[in-house]
Amino acid sequence: MLRRGSGRGAVARGAAAVAILTLAMTGVAAHSAQAAGSTLQAAAGESNRYFGTAIAANRLSDSTYSTIANREFNMITAENEMKMDATEPSQNQFNFSSGDRIVNWARQNGKQVRGHALAWHSQQPGWMQNMSGTALRNAMLNHVTQVATYYRGKIHSWDVVNEAFADGSSGARRDSNLQRTGNDWIEAAFRAARAADPQAKLCYNDYNTDDWTHAKTQAVYTMVRDFKSRGVPIDCVGLQSHFNAQSPVPSNYQTTISSFAALGVDVQITELDIEGSGSSQAENFRRATQACLNVARCTGITVWGVRDTDSWRSYGTPLLFDGSGNKKQAYTAVLDALNAAGTGPTPTPTPTSTPTSTPTSTPTSTPTPTPTSTPTQNPGGACSAALTIANSWGGGYQATVTVRAGSASINGWRVTLPSGVSTNNVWNGSISGSTVANAPYNGSVAAGQTTTFGFIGNGNAPAAGSLTCTA
Ligand code: G3I
Repeated sequence: MLRRGSGRGAVARGAAAVAILTLAMTGVAAHSAQAAGSTLQAAAGESNRYFGTAIAANRLSDSTYSTIANREFNMITAENEMKMDATEPSQNQFNFSSGDRIVNWARQNGKQVRGHALAWHSQQPGWMQNMSGTALRNAMLNHVTQVATYYRGKIHSWDVVNEAFADGSSGARRDSNLQRTGNDWIEAAFRAARAADPQAKLCYNDYNTDDWTHAKTQAVYTMVRDFKSRGVPIDCVGLQSHFNAQSPVPSNYQTTISSFAALGVDVQITELDIEGSGSSQAENFRRATQACLNVARCTGITVWGVRDTDSWRSYGTPLLFDGSGNKKQAYTAVLDALNAAGTGPTPTPTPTSTPTSTPTSTPTSTPTPTPTSTPTQNPGGACSAALTIANSWGGGYQATVTVRAGSASINGWRVTLPSGVSTNNVWNGSISGSTVANAPYNGSVAAGQTTTFGFIGNGNAPAAGSLTCTA
C-alpha cells in the first residue's frame, strides 16, 4: 500500500464516423453527441484505447462530478466498492450494493468496468485478516469465485491480484497472510477467476512497477513471463503509476510498458495520478500518456479520480480537473497527446530490454537494448520474424522474436531459429528441434500485426541471420 506523506517511491487518436467505428471495435459503446477528440474518451478511442477513471459511489450524486465523469471517461473502476472488505464483510455473506451502484451507473451510461480487486493483502475484511493456511486459501479462492461469478459478463478486466510484491531491492513477494498460504496463491487466484468469468481479461496490478530498472518491476516481469510459459491464465498487467517528485514518471517508462507487452499481455495504466501543478505537471501527464500511446498493446489509461478534491491524496492536486471541475493544463496535455496519436503513425514497438532472470538489486542505470539481428525476412510472405537480443551475459543471452503477419491474418505460425542456437527455455511458444511453434494463445495474428516469443540461449548470441516464418 502507498502511504500518504511517507516519502516512499510511488506515493507513487478525424471524422465523427471514424470515432464511432473505432469505439465499436473496442466494444466500448459509442458515446453520442461527442465530437471526435473533444473529450478524453473520444480522443483515446481514435486509437482503439479507452480512457477511464476511478469512481466513488458516494460522489455520484454530485452533479459536477457525475457530469465530468460521464462526459470524459468510458472505463470505470470502483475506487473501493468492489474490494474484499466491501463485497464480503462477513464470511460467505456477500454485499454487492455499493459495487452495483457503480457498475449500474457505468452500464447505464455505456461505459465498461474494470474490476478492482479480487485478492489483496490490504482492505481485507476483519474475519479474513486473522486467517491463515488452508482455511485462508480456501476463503480467498471462494471470494474470487463468488465475486467474479456475480459480476460475470459485466467486467472488461479484473485486477485479480493486487500489490503482491515487496518494495525495495529484494525482488521478493510481499509478506502477507495470503503469501504465507504458499507461493502459488497468485496463480491459484488467476485460475479461479478464469473459471468464474472466462470472458474477463485477468490482470496483475501493482505500484512501483513503472521503472524498468527496479527490482520490483523485474520480479513482476519474471512472474508474468513464468505464468505465460506455464499457461497460467493472465491477460494483462496493470501499472498503477502513482507519481510525484520522489517518484517521477521514469525515463524508461515506455520500456517497462513495451517489455511487459512483449510477453504477450496487454498493459494498462490503471491508477494514474501525478502530484504537482501547472506546466510541469502537464508535461509529466503528457509523457506518461505518450509512453502508452507508443506501445500498441497499451490498451488504456485510467486516472485515479475525477477532480483534485476527489483524490486519495488531494493535497498533491494530482488529477486532471481542479476542485471546481475546471480542466487543468494537465487535461489539455493529455487530450492533445491522445489526439496527436490518432492522426500520427502506427506505434512503433520499442525493443524489449530484459535483464538476467534473477535480478537482486536495483541497477544504477537504465539497461540499453542491443538489437543484434533485425532483418525482417520474406516481407511478402504469410509472416516474417525478427530476432532481437534483449540482454546477454557470459555464457548466455535472452532473445525476443517478433512474429509479424503479412498482408493477411494468420492462424498458427512456425519460426525456424538461426543455426547454432541452443535453448531449453522458450516462452510464448514451444520448440521442437530448431523450430518454435506458437503457443495456444498467440497463434492468431491479424494482418500486419505482431506477437512475440522469447528464449534464453546458451553460448554466444547468434550473429545477424535469417529467421524463416511459415504460417
Ligand atoms: O468511508 C469511510 C468513512 O465512513 C470513515 O469516516 C473514514 C474514516 O477514515 O474512512 C472512510 O473510508 C476510507 C475510504 O478510503 C473511503 O474514503 C478509508 O478509511 C480509506 O482507507 C480508504 O482509502 C482508500 C485506499 O485505497 C485504501 O487502501 C482510497 O480511497 C483509495 O483511493 C485507495 O486506492 C488504492 C488502490 O485500491 C490500490 N492502489 C493504491 C490506491 C491508492 O492508495
